[in-house]
Amino acid sequence: MTSFVLLACIMASSGGLIFGYDIGISGGVTSMDSFLEKFFPSVYAQQQADSSASQYCKFDSELLTLFTSSLYVAALLSSFAASRVTRVSGRKLSMLIGGMTFLAGSAINGAAVNVFMLILGRVLLGIGIGFANQSVPVYLSEMAPAKMRGTLNIGFQLMITVGIFAANLINYGTASIKGGWGWRVSLGLAAVPAIIMSVGALVLPDTPNSLLERGFAEEAKKMLQKIRGTDDIQEEYDDLIAASEEAKTVKSPWSNILQNKYRPQLIMAILIPFFQQLTGINVIMFYAPVLFKTIGFGGEASLASAVITGIVNVFATFVSIATVDRLGRRALFLQGGAQMLISQVVVGTLIGLKFGTSGEATELSKGYASIIVLFICVYVAAFAWSWGPLGWLVPSEIFPLEIRSAGQSITVSVNMFFTFIIAQVFLLALCHMKFGLFYFFGGWVVIMTAFIYFFLPETKNVPIEEIILVWKQHWFWGKFIADEDIHVGEHAFKNTSA
Ligand code: BGC
Repeated sequence: MTSFVLLACIMASSGGLIFGYDIGISGGVTSMDSFLEKFFPSVYAQQQADSSASQYCKFDSELLTLFTSSLYVAALLSSFAASRVTRVSGRKLSMLIGGMTFLAGSAINGAAVNVFMLILGRVLLGIGIGFANQSVPVYLSEMAPAKMRGTLNIGFQLMITVGIFAANLINYGTASIKGGWGWRVSLGLAAVPAIIMSVGALVLPDTPNSLLERGFAEEAKKMLQKIRGTDDIQEEYDDLIAASEEAKTVKSPWSNILQNKYRPQLIMAILIPFFQQLTGINVIMFYAPVLFKTIGFGGEASLASAVITGIVNVFATFVSIATVDRLGRRALFLQGGAQMLISQVVVGTLIGLKFGTSGEATELSKGYASIIVLFICVYVAAFAWSWGPLGWLVPSEIFPLEIRSAGQSITVSVNMFFTFIIAQVFLLALCHMKFGLFYFFGGWVVIMTAFIYFFLPETKNVPIEEIILVWKQHWFWGKFIADEDIHVGEHAFKNTSA
């Protein structure tokens, strides 16, 4: 690997910052009294008056969650527009659009004087995220040499976790600003990651795959030599040529992706982000302070616990960075799934034992509460080295070039849609399913882990334009792909038959 690639990938990963910052900032801001009083007075009044007995139903307000989740709807829709830009004009331009739109959104939000400005701001942020998440993972997977693709791609997830953590800390600081304008700082500071990303996008080179796809053959070859640090790139270049020839025959990636031969990838593009959200991770990311309050922590302690999970989230990501290209994607998925399941069952049981089904408020002893926090951390860590990074890495590396951009948009929109659903119904679900909610997500983890075991082929170390060969060899998916569908990897075939 060359330092040029490393730098480009670090820059591009900063796209994850804007996503993470937003995940981390909204929950804290919507719990600030001054913010609620100004924009959601009825919610504020209700919260002041509400001293409901049940621990499970403490924080129930759909208006507020609607504000939070409006962003995800915008991101969902914009990722389809981003798909076209990414394919026709390159990955770089999508990143730039993403950064600039996010910047505009953060300015409007920081300066908001009414709900309209708030929502407009959030829609712009959402568009920014749609473009970023559509282009950055693909960019990283195309830039990286096959043997380091996992490691470099996970830079994106690392930046997501850093963004979440930074946002938590910033909220912690701004919540105590006197005069009630702390929320402006929290929302306005989203401009910082937006600027980093925009500047990054301006100076980044485009990927050889994308250059070739758009007809710049010479530039593509030079870029490939540059990023691999050698002139000896003929095999990889041949694959790129074959892939881009194939891509040229495809007029509309959207109708194409429905063809039989893309069925395996299409199913993954839908199920992987769906499963990622059904792990229940965003219950912790959005509502950690609320959750900790619900199980009986005081205000300060709740926030502190949220900070602890934030740190665990960042550091556990390094485990996957270090191992994903050696142990492989499957090993991390399976181990992470098992660990998440165990901790979900433990947390659900501990909460259930304490509050039962009625949710009568009881004092939690310090020791008891710490054990709950501990197992929540065990859960977050498992997510952070499995479904977190792999939920973005795997989709970005499994599509052939001709449908890559469309496929990634599907992944982004499914992800955003279920993030939206979870954000929207969690508080209600907690109120009705009570501690059973943790078992509910645990049940999904069992399903997704079994799915990975049977249906996800290992993609570590395989050049991105040759992944089709992996599908072809799979016991189940192989039958969807005919021999004539394979145009890349001539030498790989020769190698195996020799
Ligand atoms: C997910 C987010 C989640 C984050 C937590 C990402 O991979 O897409 O929904 O909040 O990980 O670190």
